[in-house]
Amino acid sequence: MLAGLVFFLNACSNDDNQTVETLETPVANAPKDVNDHGFKAKWNYVSHSKSYLLDVSTAENFTSFVPNYNAKEITDLNDAVTGLTGGTQYYYRVRAKNETQISDYSNVIAVVTTGTSNIPEDPTFLKVKVNKLANPFFVGMAIKASQLTNGSPYDVILKNEFSSISAEYEMKMDQISTASGVYNWAAADKIVAYGNANNINVHGHALVWHNAVPQWLKDFSGTDAEFAAEVKKYITDVVTHYAGKVKSWDVVNEAVDDSGAMRNTIFLQRMGPNYVKDCFQWAREAANAAGDTSLLLFYNDYATSANTAKQDKVFSLLDDLKAAKAIDGVGFQMHNTYLSPTKAQIEADLNKAVAKGLKIHVSELDIQVNQFNDISAFTNERRLAQKAKYKEMVQIYNALPAANKYALTIWGMRDNESWIPFSTELNHPGNDWPLLYDSNFAVKSSHTGFLEGLD
Ligand code: XIL
Repeated sequence: MLAGLVFFLNACSNDDNQTVETLETPVANAPKDVNDHGFKAKWNYVSHSKSYLLDVSTAENFTSFVPNYNAKEITDLNDAVTGLTGGTQYYYRVRAKNETQISDYSNVIAVVTTGTSNIPEDPTFLKVKVNKLANPFFVGMAIKASQLTNGSPYDVILKNEFSSISAEYEMKMDQISTASGVYNWAAADKIVAYGNANNINVHGHALVWHNAVPQWLKDFSGTDAEFAAEVKKYITDVVTHYAGKVKSWDVVNEAVDDSGAMRNTIFLQRMGPNYVKDCFQWAREAANAAGDTSLLLFYNDYATSANTAKQDKVFSLLDDLKAAKAIDGVGFQMHNTYLSPTKAQIEADLNKAVAKGLKIHVSELDIQVNQFNDISAFTNERRLAQKAKYKEMVQIYNALPAANKYALTIWGMRDNESWIPFSTELNHPGNDWPLLYDSNFAVKSSHTGFLEGLD
């Protein structure tokens, strides 16, 4: 009887081996013959398969399908996908099939059809208007990974109006580095992948900032040299991880204090006054070693236009970095108000960077209208004052020489999500309305001001 049971089990497993041959997952390949109306989707042969199921979608996560391309069955190793719209992003993936057996999904291939969609671009979209300029620049937006859901209002507005993104906080050291050599890439990877997939520039913000030091590094009990080695390791690992994917980095943020001295941060205390230059050199070495020779390195700071002592110190730092051939550009945060800084102050500040041949990033623009907490609702007077100030900033930026332009980034989309009223550094006393969209994603007069600044 035991022999009988063994025979029975064997017979079963032999039988299994013959009929339940697991189908391998196919590998989808880059498309061929991309034109205005379609492309040829391609994939590799999978043994024992009899056909393939092809999905084509305009959504990266395949929540919808191009008509007739929801598991379209094909016996060949390619398929001419036709009837598509020009100048449009599509995605495809395949599964292998053998009778009732179906494999896992392949990798997803992204493809943009040539030509234009023939849907006229809306000239009131910021990047549409900017891209028609003789010397365009990136229009940037600060975002959070949680806002990037396909089809969400953020996603639609970002893709329509913005050509660059900065992470509002998820690419800072305290978010990425959980312990020495241990990294949490999840949110940052999502942001970078979103930019890369949608042809949106990704600006990295920021490698070294005194307000985003992880607790483990604050508590680090090693020697100063060991501390510096940790910072070097962090910069090297992050720049390497995003080499070729992030086009520019703020290497050091806010190294100068408001009196015009080097800010007394843990980095200054542990690494000495040359730490800024060291950080830039480590970033450059890492990029070069990873084969990215075009990474742009920025120094970023705030409130230099109306504070000459601070401005002078920042520019002497920039001189040192320039002399060491370590820097490409400077970020002016521009957390401004409807009254300050003046046009002349901003122009003088930016023109100093022009004279030094640096690229200029207006990196965190927002314009407060209630810094004295003297209004309880957004008044028409402030609405128009803010509009004029946005217009002025865009005019100043757009007048820069082509070689000095990089990006003008707005620090958040909707007023109700702005960091301004919640900031511990700013000590802002009440509510504010500093951005381009209201809490319903409706464009404000400030948005019109931005557009008018381009005329
Ligand atoms: C702020 C973000 O807006 C907040 O969400 C975060 O909690 C703290 O940082 N200067 C900078 C930015 O360089 O990184 C800061 O962003 C605002 C001031």
